[in-house]
This record gives sequence, C-alpha cells and structure tokens, in this order.
Amino acid sequence: MGKKLFIKTHGCQMNEYDSNRVGDLLGESHGFEITPNPEEADLILLNTCSIREKAQEKVFHQLGRWRKLKDKNPDLKIGVGGCVASQEGKNIISRAPFVDIVFGPQTIHRVPDLYQSSLVNCNPGIDIEFPKTEKFDYLPSPSSKGPSAFVSIMEGCNKYCTYCVVPHTRGHEISRAKEDILEEVRSLTDKGVREINFLGQNVNAYRDGKDRTKGVGLANLIRESADIKGLERIRFTTSHPFEFGQELVDVYGEVPELVSHLHLPVQSGSNSILKMMRRRHTREEYIDLITRIKDKRPGISLSSDFIVGFPGETEKDFILTLDLVDEIGFDESYSFMYSPRPNTTALEFEDDVSLEKKKERLSTLQSKLKNNANIISRRMVGTAEICLVTGVSKKDPGQLQARTENNRVVNFNTSSQSLIGEFINLEIVEALPNSLRGVIS
Ligand code: SAH
Ligand code: SF4
Ligand code: F3S
Repeated sequence: MGKKLFIKTHGCQMNEYDSNRVGDLLGESHGFEITPNPEEADLILLNTCSIREKAQEKVFHQLGRWRKLKDKNPDLKIGVGGCVASQEGKNIISRAPFVDIVFGPQTIHRVPDLYQSSLVNCNPGIDIEFPKTEKFDYLPSPSSKGPSAFVSIMEGCNKYCTYCVVPHTRGHEISRAKEDILEEVRSLTDKGVREINFLGQNVNAYRDGKDRTKGVGLANLIRESADIKGLERIRFTTSHPFEFGQELVDVYGEVPELVSHLHLPVQSGSNSILKMMRRRHTREEYIDLITRIKDKRPGISLSSDFIVGFPGETEKDFILTLDLVDEIGFDESYSFMYSPRPNTTALEFEDDVSLEKKKERLSTLQSKLKNNANIISRRMVGTAEICLVTGVSKKDPGQLQARTENNRVVNFNTSSQSLIGEFINLEIVEALPNSLRGVIS
C-alpha cells in the first residue's frame, strides 16, 4: 500500500501553491498519496503563516494535537514549513521536539530528501535557507484540479512595509524565467485549465531580464499568456500600488482575457499612516491610479486589504479610510487589526491604539465593506455574466457552481455535468448574502 500524506495549509495562496507542489513532489519521489485524514498519515506537513500573531499561535496548538498521533504511531513523521518555520527555524524543535522536518518557503523542493533522512536519522532535519538556485527548477510539472489554477511567478518581497514579516520570511524578490512560466501555463491549459491566477507577494515587481520596472515584466507576461490557446481568463495577485506603472494599466485596454477585477491593497486612506507604513504612495496617487485603470476598463471591480489600529492611527485617520472605501466603491475586501510582528520596523512604534478601539474600527470598516459588496451583488441581478463553471454546488448536488469575473459564486440548475470547466453565460436572478443564483441564458 502507498504511503499517505496529510497536508494542512495556513496563510496565503502562495502557501496553497507550495503545498500542492510538495504533494506532487512527494508523490513522485516516494509514491505518497494525499489523505484527508491525519490519523492514517505516514507523514503530516503543516505549511504555516506568520502574517499576524493569531496565525502564528495556531501552529503550536495544531502541533500539540498531532503529537498524540505520534504516540500511537511512532513511525509517523511530522514536518513544519512556511513562514513560521522560516522565522523560527530550530526554535520550532525547541518548542515541539517531536517535529522531524523544518523547511522554509524556498526549500520546498528539498522536502523529499529531508523526509528520506528522517527515516534513518533521529535528529530533526532543518533547512530554511533562501538558496540562490530557485525552488522552481526542481519542481515537477503541476497536476491540476479543475478549470482554474495558480501559477507562481515570483517569490519574496523587497518592499519592507513597516508592519510586514513577508520580506523576512520569504526573502527577497526572485522572478521565475518567463519561458518556464509560459510552459507551466501551457501544460495546465493542455489539462483543461481555463483560468490562471499569477501569484506572488508583489507580482508587479515581476522581472523578465531587464523588464522589471513598475509592472513592465508583468504586462509582457500577461500579453504573451493571453495568446496561449485555451487560456480564457487571467488574474494576478497581489500587486502593489507603488509599482503599478502605466504599461500595466494599459494592459487593461489591450487584453480582454485579463479579468475586470483587481485586488489592489491600500491598507489605509490616511497619508500620515501610509507614510508610517512605508507604502510609498499617497491617497491621491492611489485614487489617480484607480481612475486611470477605470479609464481603460470601465466597470472594473476593485477589492483591497486594510489594516486598522496601526500605531498612531487617530479617529480622523480612520475616517479617511472609511471615506476612501466610499470614494473607490470597493467590493468584498479583507481587513485586519494591526498585529506587531517580529523583526519589523513598526515594532519601534508604540502600539497605542487599544484593543477595544481596534475591534470597534474593524467592525465599522467590515460592515461598510459588506454593505458595499451587497449593493454590488444586488446591482448584478438582471445582468448577464460570463462565468467559469468550477464544479458541483456545495449545498445542492443538483446544481453547479460557477464564478463571475468579480469572484462571486453563482449556483445554477442544470443536469449537464459536462459544463464543468467551461465558460457559460448566466443571467443573475437573485443576490444572496454569500452567493448569487443564476439561470443559463
Ligand atoms: N503582498 C501583499 C499582501 C501581503 S499580506 C501586499 O503587499 O498587499 C496580506 C495582508 O495582510 C496585507 O495586505 C495586510 O493588509 C495584512 N497584514 C500584513 N501584515 C500585517 C500586520 N502586521 N498586522 C495586520 N495585518 C497585516
Ligand atoms: Fe508585505 Fe508590503 Fe511586501 Fe506586501 S508589499 S508583502 S505588505 S512588505
Ligand atoms: Fe502568511 Fe507567509 Fe503568506 S506570512 S500570508 S504564508 S507569505
């Protein structure tokens, strides 16, 4: 019987991507098969996130629960990867000595070797380097599940926003060779993938040769991918307003495959807070950028990330954030309370907004964003949307599920399972709190 692998993933889509690739890799090297049940696993991997304190806390709680499985099955191996592993290194072993493998976001390709050593060696294997040779050179061609896939195009971040651990945990920006990315996209479209989401912490720093500045490399990559047969929708995430140059804005006017939805984190609507965050742009520059994008792509939907309660944030600063939400008309977005993180510059600032205030601001902002999203959903009723059919509806097996360009789930009745993986026209007939209902039009 083949060996069983259980992987749990915290954090962002980059971690999701990495986990899938580790699964592919261990399948090739050791014949591992994925199991949804940790109790029957021979190897358990936890891919961790360190973006906020809460995310980090989850790691040791989770490991504590798995320790009991190891008491029952001494042959079970446990590995910890991702951003907490990168940040903590051997401290993971000090706090959880039963862990066998520690690997970082840039050493996922070495997991098979680390696993092999753990079978013969009782000392834990730790490898959290940022090797110069990229991990991508060692990864097999990706398996695909469904019509939509992630393709990682770059690693790391050099922006050093003052609150953020990512440059510390993922290292500096490294871009993959454009030909390798296009090859991966081709291999996915050959397997039936219709929608690609280009991934990176800061994709507009994507660099192909000298084409680095302000999104030029990404703009070229999007143009060339759009020519690949079978690829009908292109997304990218996450981009940074500071590096969103005009060439990238222009792509919205040139490439219809690029979706009319953009996630462009702004974090705050106050210039003094943006400065303290070292976001390298002002509120006015952000608004100007959005205006130029809307000029090329009228009706584009926009979402964002926000941090409330950053050190020094006054009521006035917060109101500027609320105003910006109205001014831009953001759709469904993410918002978080500021959380001080190891090694970041913002640790030097006094975390002076009380927890109570942070909670209050978060709830005010979230209800505003939810309200906006509901208004947008209701406005979609009566319109025809081109949707990618992603699978069977979670609630009703007699229905299929599709996604609109602005990432909403639409459930619709059909008996034709062969629509999965296809684009179809749906008329939106009802807006529910978390999804839409459509009929084939
Ligand atoms: N690379 C992306 C996002 C990285 S992390 C970007 O630059 O936009 C995702 C989101 O987590 C951030 O956009 C930010 O809103 C939030 N975040 C990051 N560090 C945080 C911290 N210390 N406290 C609270 N939220 C944080
Ligand atoms: Fe973090 Fe800023 Fe880099 Fe985004 S751009 S990953 S928020 S440092
Ligand atoms: Fe978390 Fe690391 Fe992603 S900190 S958000 S898993 S880059």
